[in-house]
Amino acid sequence: MIKYLGSKRRLVPVLGDLLDRAGAVTAIDLFTGTTRVAQEFKARGAEVWALDSARYSAVFADCYVATDAREIDHRELAGAVAELDALPGEDGYVTETFCRRARFFQPRNGMRIDAIREGIERRFAGSRLRPILLTSLLEAADRVDSTTGVQMAYLKDWAPRSFAPLRLRIPRVLDGPGHTVAGDAVGLTASLPEVDLAYVDPPYNQHRYFTNYHVWETLVAWDRPEHYGIACKRVDARDEHTRSAFNSRRSIVPALAGVIGRLRARVCVVSISDESWISLPELVEMCRHRGEVEVLTYDSRRYVGAQIGVFDPSGRRVGRVSHVRNSEHLVISGDAGDVREIVGAASSTASAAAAG
Ligand SMILES: C[S@@+](CC[C@H](N)C(=O)[O-])C[C@H]1O[C@@H](n2cnc3c(N)ncnc32)[C@H](O)[C@@H]1O
Repeated sequence: MIKYLGSKRRLVPVLGDLLDRAGAVTAIDLFTGTTRVAQEFKARGAEVWALDSARYSAVFADCYVATDAREIDHRELAGAVAELDALPGEDGYVTETFCRRARFFQPRNGMRIDAIREGIERRFAGSRLRPILLTSLLEAADRVDSTTGVQMAYLKDWAPRSFAPLRLRIPRVLDGPGHTVAGDAVGLTASLPEVDLAYVDPPYNQHRYFTNYHVWETLVAWDRPEHYGIACKRVDARDEHTRSAFNSRRSIVPALAGVIGRLRARVCVVSISDESWISLPELVEMCRHRGEVEVLTYDSRRYVGAQIGVFDPSGRRVGRVSHVRNSEHLVISGDAGDVREIVGAASSTASAAAAG
C-alpha cells in the first residue's frame, strides 16, 4: 500500500475488532484513502462501501474492495502484470515532468512508469483488470519515489529507495462483493445504504490530498495536465471543484456534522487526531444524537514528513519538528448496548496499537 498522510495502518486491527464485536456484516469506509480499513473489513467478511473523492482512491477501491477475487482469472492477471513489467522504458510526460523538472523519480523509473501507464491504456482500457493493473503501477511507483511521503516537494538528494528498479507486483485482491463510491462525501453520504458500521476518517486540517498526491491523480487521469511550481502540481489544483470542505476552517465543522447526521449506520466510528481543527468535545457533540458516545484514545507516531523535518526545495532545513507523536481518538456512537459491548473489547487491543 502507498505511503499516505493520515493512513490508519496501526489502527487497522483495532477497527477490525470493532467490526467483529459489533457483529457487523455491512460497513461503510468513508474517506477510504488507501482502502486499508475497507480491506480489513472485507477480509473479515463484511460487504463494504468505500468512498473517497480522490481518483487514485477510487482505483484502489475498484481493485481491493469492488473486485471479487473469485471472479478474476488469476492466470490472465499474472500474465498482464508480467507483460507490463517487461515493457522497455519510454520517454514521456512522467519522465519530463516528474523526473527532470521535478525529481520525484529517477528518470529510468519514470520512463518505465510512462511505458507501463501507456500499456495499460492501450491493452486494458475496457478490462476488469484495469484497476488492478493501475494499483500495481501506483504501488510500484510509490516504492521507488524520492519524497518525504507527500508530493509537494522532493528530496535534494535521491532517496535510497529511488535507485531500485521499478517492479510491478500482483495486488492481493480479496474474495467477496464490495462497492466503490467515487466523489464528495458531502453530497454522496445520503445516497449510501443503511449499514451495521460506518467508519469516518476525514481530513482534519489545511493539508489537501489533491495537491499532496497530485502525481497519483495525474497517473490515474492520464491527461498530461499543465502544471505549476517546483512540484509541478496540476493547474486544476487551483480550481474550486478540486477543493474539499474538510480543508477549510470555515466549512469543516458543518461539513462533518452534516455527514455524520446523514449516515445511516447502527454504529458509527469517527477518527480524529489532536492535530485536528475539530476538537474532541465538538466531535462528541456531533455524535450525541446517535445515542451513547464513547472515546478510545491511542498514541501514534506522526507521518514520516513530520519526523524527518521541514525542508525547502534546495534541501535546506526551514522548520523544526515540534513533536513526533500525537493522539488518535476513535469516537464511537450508537445504541448504548452496542457501544458498551464493542468499547469494552477494544480497550484490550488499545495497548497493542499504541505500542506499534
Ligand atoms: C485521513 S485520509 C483517510 C485515510 C484512510 N482512512 C486510510 O487509512 O488510508 C482522508 C481522505 O479524505 C479524502 N477526502 C478529502 N475531502 C473529501 C471529500 N470532500 N469527500 C470525500 N473524500 C474526501 C482524501 O482524498 C483522503 O483520502
